This record gives sequence, structure tokens and C-alpha cells, in this order.
Amino acid sequence: MEARTLIERKRDGGRITAAEWRSLMNQYAAGEVPDYQMAALAMAIFFVGLDRDEIVALTNAMLESGSSLQLSHLTLGRVDKHSTGGVGDKVSLVLAPLVAACGVAVPMMSGRGLGHTGGTLDKLESIPGFRTDLPLAQATKQLEAIGCALIGQTREIAPADRKLYALRDATATVESIPLIAASIMSKKLAEGLTGLVLDVKYGSGAFLPELDRGLTLARTMIDLGTDHGCPVVALLTAMDRPLGRACGNALEVEESIAALRGEGPADLMDVTYALGAEMLVLGGVAATRNEARRRMEVAISSGRAARKFQAIIEAQGGNPAVVDDPGLLPQAAEVELFVAARDGVVAQVEPRAIGRGITAMGGGRTKVEDTVDPAVGFVITARPGDVVRVGEPLATIFARDAAGVEAGRATLRASIRLADDADPPLPLISHRVTAAGVERYEAEE
Ligand code: URA
Repeated sequence: MEARTLIERKRDGGRITAAEWRSLMNQYAAGEVPDYQMAALAMAIFFVGLDRDEIVALTNAMLESGSSLQLSHLTLGRVDKHSTGGVGDKVSLVLAPLVAACGVAVPMMSGRGLGHTGGTLDKLESIPGFRTDLPLAQATKQLEAIGCALIGQTREIAPADRKLYALRDATATVESIPLIAASIMSKKLAEGLTGLVLDVKYGSGAFLPELDRGLTLARTMIDLGTDHGCPVVALLTAMDRPLGRACGNALEVEESIAALRGEGPADLMDVTYALGAEMLVLGGVAATRNEARRRMEVAISSGRAARKFQAIIEAQGGNPAVVDDPGLLPQAAEVELFVAARDGVVAQVEPRAIGRGITAMGGGRTKVEDTVDPAVGFVITARPGDVVRVGEPLATIFARDAAGVEAGRATLRASIRLADDADPPLPLISHRVTAAGVERYEAEE
């Protein structure tokens, strides 16, 4: 089947069959369908959409474009978490070692920066020497030995997503429910999981800002998991402001290390514990979310979670000393405070503009082949609702040169809005979705 015929059919509102998706994604992974044709198809999907059977067929075709991790010999539960993408969202870096330290295996396959959002792989690679392109056999051995491996899509595993993910980033075709669902679930289903937890972001900095589209995405992914016998729980969490304070690759690693030492910002810890509790219950090591949270708190206060991160870094070729001395992470040449221009209330800290600003400073990509400067970004201490006085520090800019500082200042002027009063931000965690349905999120007492 010619790719051009499928593009034409999808453009005109037609359907692509399961056999056609399989053949197309195999050919794409093998380099036999060029990126320009896949980009055109992604744009047609963006506008026309896919029906439920096509989403299932595309996900399976992407999953089957490569191998899967074979982990059924592990006695531990195997549970991963994936976020639909946000700014300052470094939860994976904290959660993977934390959950592994609590006795659940975490085979975590993540992505690079996508659109205005940062990617776990880029963050991890800011640790000197850290490798995310592990061969499957090495990832499997590492999971057997230390219960966690932090990898990316490779030519072996999820190769179709590896290529399509980078292509969508550069062609403005990220914001599509079928494409996001197939991208995430094809990777996750290749991990040989016994459970999956999804962090579905909504709010102005999410790919799907509206709550109802976030819920639809959550249900779509839960159904895909159910089809494969993988139980999935999704939490809907706020992305109308950055998560935590640090935004930018190495800065986020530093904040994650602080979190593993018990010094993380409250919002980051609340989201981490909520997702982690679901993982521990799915992984069979805690009967309730409350018990799970207590286990995680002990893993952090005892130092076990930080030591697990050190072990993962060492196993993947990175310098484990960064956990004791984050000063070993790449450092920005220019550091400058950004202060309030007036008295007022912080009405908004707009994440999309912040993410784009980091890209403009060199910390993200606009083309597939761009390299990323790991050191640049922001630490934003101002939170929506804070009352501030003129001259008070709101954030710190980390840049590679004076032009980067100026770009950083312009970003913060546009994204931190001071006013006389402010609407309340979105609830940090609003809904919990399972195969049984949607409920308002309540932390257990
Ligand atoms: N995360 C992914 O892995 N893929 C997407 O399309 C969006 C977020």
C-alpha cells in the first residue's frame, strides 16, 4: 500500500484498516516511508481524527513495530507512570527511584522534550555520562538487579514512536488525542507491565488544556490498557502553572534530588505521592493509598530513595556523585534575579510561555537535529495567589549569555502576571479515572 493513498484517504475523512496501519508503521520504522509523508499523515490525523478501532490498530501497529521487554520472570510487580506532558514536570525522576525503593519494579520508557514541555530523557542526560539508549538485554539485567531502568525508545523497542514522536514535535502535530494515546500506550505496553499510572495534565500549559478532553484522553488510554490486560489508573492534575519551582533540564534534576532527600516543594511532593500511591497499590506492596504514602515517606526519610537514584545513575553510566553534590550538574554561565515590577498578587504563572522561553534560551528543540543546553531555565518561586511587593524576587534566570538573560527576562515578564487580585488556580489533583469510571479525587484520610 502506498503511503500517499493512505494520506489522501485520511485527509478526505476515510478510515485506515488494521492491516494498513501495521504495514505502514513497520515500513516507517524501517525507514521505507519518509518523514515528509508521515508528517502529512500526522497533520491529517490532527484535523480528521481516528475512530476507536483505528486508535487500537495504530497503537498495536506502533507497539509491534519493535520488541517488548520480557519481564514475567520477575517476582515483583512491574508498574510505570507516564505524564501527558507539562512544564516543570520532573515527577518521573523522583517517582521511579522512590517506587523502586519500595519494592515495585519500574521499567520506565520516557521521551524527549515535546512541544513546549520538557522530556525526562533530556533531563536525565544532563547528568554527566548518563545513557538512556540501553539495549533491551541491559535494561532487563538492570531491572533484575536494582528494580528500575530509565530508558528511551530505541531501534529495538517502540521504534515507530521514537521516530514519530520527534517528527510530531517539529511539525506541530502533538495536540491530538489519538496520536498522544497511541504514542504513550505503544511505549508503555512494550514494557511488560502489570500496571500503569497516568498523569493526565490539563490547564493552559497542557497539550489538551480542557478538562473534558483530558478525561477523554484518560479513558482512551485506559481502554487500550484494558484490551491488553494491563490495569491503568489516571489522575487528572493541574498544568495551569509549572509543577515545583525548577523549569529546565539540569535545574529539574537538582530539584528532583532535593525531593528525594525530603526537601521537595509541596506541590511536586503531593503529585508524586498521589501517583506513587497508585503505583504501590497496583504493584501489590500496599493495600491502601495511605499505607503506600507512609512507605514512600519512610523510603525518603531513610535515604533509601536517594540511594536508589544513585544506583540507577551508576548503572546507566552517569556520575552518581551528583546526588550528594548537585553542583556537578551543568551550570549556567549567567544567573540573574527577576523581581516584581509592582505590588500585587501573582495572578498567573503561565507554563506554556515559560516552556517556549526555555526553548528560546537553548534548552529545547525547534528542529529534530537541535542540541539542548542542559543548564538553562528558571527557578520560579512565585506561586499563583502570592502577595508580593515591588522589588521582591519572583524567579531566577539561568542563561548561557547576556542575550539568554534578556530572553529569560522577556519570558518572565510575559508569563508572571501581577494584578490587584487573582482567581484561584486549578485544584492540583482533580479526578481519578479507572476502567470503572471517573471520580473526583480525594486523598484517603
Ligand atoms: N507523551 C508521549 O509519550 N507522547 C505524546 O504524544 C505526549 C506525551
